[in-house]
Amino acid sequence: MKTQVCIVGAGPAGLLLGHLLRAEGIECVVIERRSPDYVLGRIRAGVLERVTVSLMERLGLDARLKAEGLPHDGFNLADGERLVRIDLAGLTGQHVVVYGQTELTRDLMDASEERGLEVIYEVEDVALHDVDGDAPFVTFSKGGAGQRIDCRIIAGCDGFHGPSRRAVPASVGKDYEREYPFGWLGILADVPPCNHELIYANHERGFALASMRSKTRSRYYVDVPLTDRIEDWPDERVWDELAIRLGPEAAAHMTRGPALEKSIAPLRSFVFAPMRHGSLLLCGDAAHIVPPTGAKGLNLAASDVHYAAEALLGFFKRGDADAIAGYSDKALARVWKSERFSWSLTRLMHRFPEDGPFERAMQVAELDYIASSRAAQTSIAENYVGLPV
Ligand code: APR
Ligand code: PHB
Repeated sequence: MKTQVCIVGAGPAGLLLGHLLRAEGIECVVIERRSPDYVLGRIRAGVLERVTVSLMERLGLDARLKAEGLPHDGFNLADGERLVRIDLAGLTGQHVVVYGQTELTRDLMDASEERGLEVIYEVEDVALHDVDGDAPFVTFSKGGAGQRIDCRIIAGCDGFHGPSRRAVPASVGKDYEREYPFGWLGILADVPPCNHELIYANHERGFALASMRSKTRSRYYVDVPLTDRIEDWPDERVWDELAIRLGPEAAAHMTRGPALEKSIAPLRSFVFAPMRHGSLLLCGDAAHIVPPTGAKGLNLAASDVHYAAEALLGFFKRGDADAIAGYSDKALARVWKSERFSWSLTRLMHRFPEDGPFERAMQVAELDYIASSRAAQTSIAENYVGLPV
């Protein structure tokens, strides 16, 4: 098989890029290790920045997002009894849209067939070859038969564990990594949210987040030691802990219900640089991971895709080889700023096991400063709604 761009991975990054290229008449094929149902079964964050919404609008795939997404003009930081509201709309003139990553992925998947975007699911043994040169190719097997895709560019959109990043020689790429000493236990339930806006809480017992998917479906998190297992957390224990950590006001409005999904995910900050090597571009989780505090993961994948689509258009439509060469620096400039924000909000809102009284005093001082300073709130707000692309 021969195409212009082979996209490895059909998560949001791969599907968004595939649709953008198709819309511009650039040939591409997407290959994905899992089945469509498996991809849709992964529960991830659900807060969209402008960049993500804009890409869906540009593709004309924003109808459901516009109908069902919830625009949020603010969110809250809670510290014990106090609630500090960050007025996103008042401070930045912008908002975020609460719409699950699963739903966005479903919209992109549903449109693949009607728009002729070729996505090959359930492929195995994917390997990237000759990424240094001008004629790279990808091999894989499907139903036991070996296949090969020859192309001009490979887009590695295969997430943190995929093979694309590993195709960059160790002498070229560098990892920047920080692991956190806790994970987030998430619970999804068909109950109305306890508050109309998100609440991120730093309580002496640990972190909690009240989020939602719709007016009838809630998503909550608590941080837990990495040694905890899901069996340690029956639903009632999760609800009890949420009620304490989110504070009495939120607890009074919290409706409990059976978990539709419950899982523990570790937290990590990770950047791989550069994000391009030869004919290989990396996008999304393949190149970087943020801790979920701030909900930047999907939005960063979208901004990478925005820059990658621009680079590929320049390359294929205008013969501009510099467009490809400039991709990594452009994408990384925004990646590092989102990494910084996600890291700093994580630092502010969690009790780290190694923290002493000094570190705690720093958190209290910072929350006090945020509560009293419009400048501090503006800084948080402009990062939360998303920095410009
Ligand atoms: N071959 C083909 N596909 C692969 C391979 C492989 N060897 N390995 C992984 N994949 C697929 C995964 O099955 C997955 O569907 O690549 C896809 C990567 O998708 P995501 O992990 O969702 O990553 P990305 O598209 O970059 O989206 C970033 O997802 O992880 C969240 O928080 C993150 O919200 C952010 C978003
Ligand atoms: C979610 O709704 O799953 C969510 C919201 C905000 C975050 C992380 C996750 O920062």
